[in-house]
Amino acid sequence: TIPVIIDCDPGIDDVMALTLAFAHPELDIKLITTEPGNQTQEKTIYNALAFTSYMKKNIEVAKGLDKPFFRKLEIADEVHGENGLGDVQFPEPTLQLSNRTAVEAMKETLLLSDEQIILIATGPLTNVGALLLAHPEVKSKIKYISYMGGAAVGGNMSPTAEFNVYVDPHAADIVFRSGVPIVMSGLDVTHKAYVTIEELDEIEAIGTEFALKVATMLRFYIHTAKQTAFHTPNFEGQIRLHDLCAVSYVLTPELFSGDDCHVAVELEGRLTSGTTVVDYSQRTGLPHNVKVLHTVHREKFLEQFLNAVKIMGQQ
Ligand code: BDR
Ligand code: CA
Repeated sequence: TIPVIIDCDPGIDDVMALTLAFAHPELDIKLITTEPGNQTQEKTIYNALAFTSYMKKNIEVAKGLDKPFFRKLEIADEVHGENGLGDVQFPEPTLQLSNRTAVEAMKETLLLSDEQIILIATGPLTNVGALLLAHPEVKSKIKYISYMGGAAVGGNMSPTAEFNVYVDPHAADIVFRSGVPIVMSGLDVTHKAYVTIEELDEIEAIGTEFALKVATMLRFYIHTAKQTAFHTPNFEGQIRLHDLCAVSYVLTPELFSGDDCHVAVELEGRLTSGTTVVDYSQRTGLPHNVKVLHTVHREKFLEQFLNAVKIMGQQ
């Protein structure tokens, strides 16, 4: 099995990423932690608990920091809805919130582990940044961070900044400079990891209560995304499953390709704050700290996702 910790801000595509992880017993999910991003801390922790309970997974869920390091929190309620899950309801959680904070739980889980753990991060990097700052001794226990965030070219919050990095660039800066290897599923690859409106019919055809909830969430996602800054050229009819890439890469890295290079986070730029500056052309001469993904085998990726929805619907 592959030991992982998942740090997220559920979030429609975050719960899709959890679905993929839950469907694969070869992933040993040690811990789930949350932070604000798509919605407030209160709502993202509720969603993580409710969704994990609904999927009948007995995994520790711990609450992280309640706001970005320095920035005022900006949530994406226009994309993920009032409850963060496109108004789709899950029953009240049966799982109890952990009595450890996210940072404590991550630190203790990492230090107690005999093997290295992969950190999957699908939200702003507030918790991971705090962990690496406060407890640098955990670094050698992290195999790599599979991160959904950033972009080499083109943002979705500003012309150049992607949402997760934009929300807490200071935390992202700490993580990108930490020396821990990072695999970045930025918009370059996640915009190619989509499901079409027509393919939503296939999801609905699975026919389980869960599959219908998935289709409803994804319909909400495209509906609202169309009306926001997330609208980009060639967007028509495509629902991007951003966060799923960070889990899919851990399971099947062969579906992806990318380049090793140096990436830094812009903190202050007049126009570019929160941008990941990807040194494709090796101008800085700085060591490669990130594998920047740019391509995914969409058909296989989609098949993997549909299978996960099928498997989890039977629980
Ligand atoms: C990222 O922003 C969030 O809204 C999504 O959950 C994803 O993590 C995409 O830019
Ligand atoms: Ca997310």
